[in-house]
Amino acid sequence: MQLLNQQLLQTQSFINNQWVGPANRATFDVINPADQRVITSIADCGAVETEQAVKAASAAFKSWSKKTAKERSAVMKKWFNLVSDNMDDLAMIMTTEQGKPLAEAKGEIIYGASFIEWFAEEARRIYGDVIPTPLNDRRIIATKQPIGVVAAITPWNFPVSMITRKISPAIAAGCTVVIKPAAQTPLSALALAYLSKEAGFPDGVINIITSSRAAEVGKVMTEHPLVQKFSFTGSTKVGKMLMQQCASTVKKVSLELGGNAPLIVFDDANIDLAIKGTLASKYRNAGQTCVCANRIYVQENIYDSFMERYKKAVTALNVGEGTKPNVEIGPLIDENAIEKINRLMNDALERGATITAGGNKHEAGKLFYQPSIIEGCNSEMAVSREEIFGPVSAIYKFRTDEEAIQMANNTEYGLAAYFFTQNIGRAIRVAEALDYGIVGVNEGVVSHTEAPFGGMKESGIGREGSKYGIEEYVEVKYVCIGGL
Ligand code: SIN
Repeated sequence: MQLLNQQLLQTQSFINNQWVGPANRATFDVINPADQRVITSIADCGAVETEQAVKAASAAFKSWSKKTAKERSAVMKKWFNLVSDNMDDLAMIMTTEQGKPLAEAKGEIIYGASFIEWFAEEARRIYGDVIPTPLNDRRIIATKQPIGVVAAITPWNFPVSMITRKISPAIAAGCTVVIKPAAQTPLSALALAYLSKEAGFPDGVINIITSSRAAEVGKVMTEHPLVQKFSFTGSTKVGKMLMQQCASTVKKVSLELGGNAPLIVFDDANIDLAIKGTLASKYRNAGQTCVCANRIYVQENIYDSFMERYKKAVTALNVGEGTKPNVEIGPLIDENAIEKINRLMNDALERGATITAGGNKHEAGKLFYQPSIIEGCNSEMAVSREEIFGPVSAIYKFRTDEEAIQMANNTEYGLAAYFFTQNIGRAIRVAEALDYGIVGVNEGVVSHTEAPFGGMKESGIGREGSKYGIEEYVEVKYVCIGGL
């Protein structure tokens, strides 16, 4: 891979500001999903190095947590500037290891960097309270203190922003961190680590463990007594297991888990807006986001006209290698992703659905899938319960608002939901009735640094980004000053 700054390409774990590998020199390969070529081999660390990183983070916590908010903020701002200045290289690294089109990768670098900037600003606004006293001989103060060492596991679908969304509030609050990025996309994480060292973070504040053995690293992260907080983005199944492991030392947890987002197109929707929003929600990152529209409900009386235009828009999407110009849909991450789509499609077809666009692998390569539509979906199909995580629109027809809301809420997930209507009363009623942490009205992409991101029900615990994000990394301490 040719970069302007080749130093960004690192291949070892980052512990205590040093590049570290395991004693046995084990490595694992990072594969370009566009052509399945090996990009490079990466240090395959395990429990020993994770423990080392936790200890380094714990030692660093003593001095980092004592720095003033302004001092922490100053280093974070340098990091933000370096990430922004290296945007082209970082985007190239991301596209090469993850597959998303370069324009999307650049968008993610901007989004990812914005968490660093936002929380550098928020560091100086971690306010407590002076609470009116019930007794005249004492005063009540509530302060917020950094929780301690934070361990986190991040996914491959957003290799930069999911890291900065966790690291930034943690270090802004005065915590230190140990992160394990997904084995598919460690290069973006290591490039961020390289820039953090350039920015001047003291030893041990940011540590990155690269590993192909998630369970081994996860066990140390969730059970180590020096870790006070654990944060995870990934599947609900794995999140539940990690949460159980955290129970042994009663860690504070943040979980950003699976979604099964409904998207409803009501009969009074602005159809241009609805098509644009549905395409963006469904096909961003080739359908591999946990907030992707997973179930698309279209009202009966506009069904045919909406679908005619939607099909044209979907089949016009440009599929290819992410580094090529004008590509809108890159490859899926691996063969498992393709197999999952095939399984969901076959199940839907057996239960009466019809493919009306795509429905096959794409000629661009082994991991490319045609932008597809299946119509006639119903709640008996696996596609209505499981995340598709690919470029397939599953379409359902509905008659009344009540029916749409009931179907939309009929899931154990509660991350994101979307709907399109021009009726203000309907907009407010439906937004209030949807059991989701994030609701997009007339908009298909709603992720912003300034807004709280997180789910209800089995989609998770806690919120990331926004003014709420930092609360996940502080403890409220009540101080009673008596004897006045
Ligand atoms: C995700 O898929 O986990 C995050 C997507 C986003 O921040 O928009």
